[in-house]
Amino acid sequence: MLPGIFIQALTVLLPLRTAAYTLNDDTFDPRTATTKDIHHTLFTNQTTCRGIISSFLARIEAFNPVINAIISLNPDSLSVADHLDAVLSSSSNITSLTTSFPLFCVPVLLKDNFDFVPLPTTAGSRALALNFPSEDAPSVQALSSAGAVILGKTNMHDMALEGLTVSSFAGQTRNPYDLSRTPGGSSGGSGAAVAAGFAVLAMGTDTMNSVRSPASAGGLVGVRPSRGAVSRRGVVPVSWRQDAVGIMGRSVEDVGVGLRTLMGVGVDPQDNATWEVPGKVWERDSGREIEREGKRGVRGRRFGLLTEGYFNFTTSAETDPVNGAMRNMVSKLTAAGAAVINISDPLLNPISLKSLDVQIFEYPPMLTSYLSLTASHNPPGSVPPSFRALYTQARPNRAFLVLPAQSSFLHAALKSSPSSEEYHSRLQGISRLREHLLSVFKAHDLDALIYPEQQNLVVPIGSPNQYGRNGLLAALTGFPVVCVPVGFSPPTDLAPAEPL
Ligand SMILES: *[C@@H]1O[C@H](CO)[C@@H](O)[C@H](O)[C@H]1NC(C)=O
Ligand SMILES: *[C@@H]1O[C@H](CO)[C@@H](O)[C@H](O)[C@H]1NC(C)=O
Ligand SMILES: *[C@@H]1O[C@H](CO)[C@@H](O)[C@H](O)[C@H]1NC(C)=O
Ligand SMILES: *[C@@H]1O[C@H](CO)[C@@H](O)[C@H](O)[C@H]1NC(C)=O
Ligand SMILES: *[C@@H]1O[C@H](CO)[C@@H](O)[C@H](O)[C@H]1NC(C)=O
Repeated sequence: MLPGIFIQALTVLLPLRTAAYTLNDDTFDPRTATTKDIHHTLFTNQTTCRGIISSFLARIEAFNPVINAIISLNPDSLSVADHLDAVLSSSSNITSLTTSFPLFCVPVLLKDNFDFVPLPTTAGSRALALNFPSEDAPSVQALSSAGAVILGKTNMHDMALEGLTVSSFAGQTRNPYDLSRTPGGSSGGSGAAVAAGFAVLAMGTDTMNSVRSPASAGGLVGVRPSRGAVSRRGVVPVSWRQDAVGIMGRSVEDVGVGLRTLMGVGVDPQDNATWEVPGKVWERDSGREIEREGKRGVRGRRFGLLTEGYFNFTTSAETDPVNGAMRNMVSKLTAAGAAVINISDPLLNPISLKSLDVQIFEYPPMLTSYLSLTASHNPPGSVPPSFRALYTQARPNRAFLVLPAQSSFLHAALKSSPSSEEYHSRLQGISRLREHLLSVFKAHDLDALIYPEQQNLVVPIGSPNQYGRNGLLAALTGFPVVCVPVGFSPPTDLAPAEPL
């Protein structure tokens, strides 16, 4: 088994009551539907794929005005559904249909930094409003080929540089569990959308925390795969070393099917991180292996609980629910026969890890390489062709949003160079960290490390940043991470326990 890192998600309760779009069978509800539910409903002739997709579009229409998670809708989603209905009606063998199309008629949303031909890729920035891609990102192609229906694109933190999910293009996205709070980020539109039942799966990207933070804030499962396991081509980049494509959903099984589909892209000549993945990873039937591992349960497993720097024990309404949920989770694991070993390791402390972050060195050249390519496919003047052009042209039009923390990041990025000694010494530090992390797994014979994704509840709207997040260890080392829900905070007036 690959070393894994599981993270807790913590969230507040569901305030949305919905008139769910009702089908013949009242067990189908887009708020809770899984891939299996969709397939059951379709294959028992209770509705068509058009009916399924319409039910999700109806929820978007009803509730997106409150949540503000969606940036754009795919004009072709219903015709794709009609096509799938035709495929279904001419197919006599459902098993072979779902083997060829594991995501048959599953509605998926894309963070707006993925290239998808019918829609512009804005990355949340008004400066990129006319950035029309010439081809789909390979990850998006893989989803479509597996039968997924791309519903549209979601809001994200402007250029993915913070975790609040506020953008110059679309403004602030709200957390469907508590409308006064952010949905985490930067893939917060994707997280809020799945939490609100706008789609079954949604794509995100993660440079520090950006898939796991919205999963944590929305009670979702979110996965950041091993470095190189999913091609990042056709996605607006931040960091070559740290970027990963990930996926969120409400169930582990759905996210597993999604991840397997994305890994189907395999080695990509144009994303050299995929070259680093050992060949046997592509050959292995990871689906079967995961199923076998899952059936084994947690008995006899050894988990390392990261302590130093991963918790905030100052008692408060923001931190107590996280600490309580983590204690509860540890006692459940122990009761189920797992061993939980405290790991207090200064080398893994998230505060000291900040000194290894390489985003400022990689963002300017990576963004320029993405923009220069896309600018060459678009009419002259419609897309800024470089990092510098984006931020200098955009400023007078206020076409991008820079919070104070991002402004200092951008100034530092402008002055940084990937040929500097500091960059190389950080890359060496990352290699040493990777070796050290492997030695920690070995020394304690661990199956996985566990820690809270965030030390406090997701921050209220209007906060200066999404503080207290713990994601950097996986982002730097490239180890795989799964964020799973472990509890809820107590209900409040803004986040009631019972739906209204
Ligand atoms: C669904 O409809 C198709 C085509 O009319 C038919 O072949 C199939 O047996 C039906 N399935 C069920 C479970 O009713
Ligand atoms: C349906 O397809 C599966 C997988 O391709 C195959 O194993 C099975 O024999 C097929 N069933 C029928 C009735 O043709
Ligand atoms: C991989 O790609 C990055 C970004 O394009 C580049 O900086 C780096 O030199 C490449 N590495 C190799 C080994 O080709
Ligand atoms: C492990 O760490 C947690 C969190 O700091 C603490 O509550 C617990 O008492 C520790 N357990 C042991 C056995 O030291
Ligand atoms: C720890 O939590 C307290 C109470 O919410 C907060 O004031 C403080 O800023 C937090 N510390 C850190 C390092 O996040």
